Amino acid sequence: MDARALETEARSAIAAASTLSELDDARVRYLGRKSDLKQALRDVRDPETGRVLNTLRQKLEEQIAERQAELERAELDRRLTEEVLDITLPGEAAPRGHLHLITQIRREVEDIFLGLGYWVVDGREVETTRYNFDGLNFPADHPARSPLQSVFLNGDVLLRTETSPSQVRVMEAQSPPIYMVSLGRVYRRDTPDATHTPIFHQVEGLAVDRGITLADLKGTLLHMMRALFGEEREMRFRTHDFPFTEPSLEPDVSCFLCDGEGCSVCRYSGWIEIAGSGVVDPDVLRFAGIEPEEWSGFAFGMGLERVAMLRHGLPALGLLWENDLRLLSQF
Ligand code: DAH
Repeated sequence: MDARALETEARSAIAAASTLSELDDARVRYLGRKSDLKQALRDVRDPETGRVLNTLRQKLEEQIAERQAELERAELDRRLTEEVLDITLPGEAAPRGHLHLITQIRREVEDIFLGLGYWVVDGREVETTRYNFDGLNFPADHPARSPLQSVFLNGDVLLRTETSPSQVRVMEAQSPPIYMVSLGRVYRRDTPDATHTPIFHQVEGLAVDRGITLADLKGTLLHMMRALFGEEREMRFRTHDFPFTEPSLEPDVSCFLCDGEGCSVCRYSGWIEIAGSGVVDPDVLRFAGIEPEEWSGFAFGMGLERVAMLRHGLPALGLLWENDLRLLSQF
């Protein structure tokens, strides 16, 4: 084999390679396993020839590496000039959504109570009659226990009809003092109309401590109503009846639209019915393992859709569920 001639030929082939794949072809042809040079190296008999051929191999390898670097740099340069991206062009703005009105109100209520040092506790949407009724002191013949009024899944498992079962779960799990709110969906077999939907949201509140009285309940609810409806709001309480509170009270808030003058929102009474509340029944405390001689508490529940309807003058509850962006994007 003529090493000189091979070197000349290989060098010009490497230099002439104008792409990486042409360069690879040259590498295979002159340095590959079946190349003349590799063949000659295998057949070497004397050290002098071996030295010459190895030097040649080394020089060719170096030249290939250099050429490869050149070609890669050229390729990069080409892409940098050809594939320019004008980052100063304005992009296409992705339409941005926002939280649903009910979620906004839910977070607002959570914030009000976090500010008072309450825990925000998750309840369960799938409940048992033990927590939904028994622990809340519902009598055995209460109509809400009927499958005609409540959505039973099977046996004693149902979709909760109110957020109040969270009271029982928290009292069973923690010892007083307890200050908690729990917010979420509730389910009832109600025929939809302007003020009813089979699914809606409630906030439940519970405080259990030493020496809790009705005055604490009134002050806490007044704070919540003022935060939600304006600092000028006043409240009044009417007696009511819930199985799990004794006494039970229904708080009314002064109408934020007419300020008590009378308008269609408050049905010309100046007051708006907004929640249920009361002093926790001793039987409810006892059921959850809390000693009523030592501890007392208050509780309340309120519908979040009702807050939304009142605040924004929505004519029907169902609007909140129709997902019509012309409505929802206003909030
Ligand atoms: N659970 C009641 C309802 O859905 C609301 C309620 C009333 C909750 C009084 C309470 C309460 O915690 O003390 O109508």
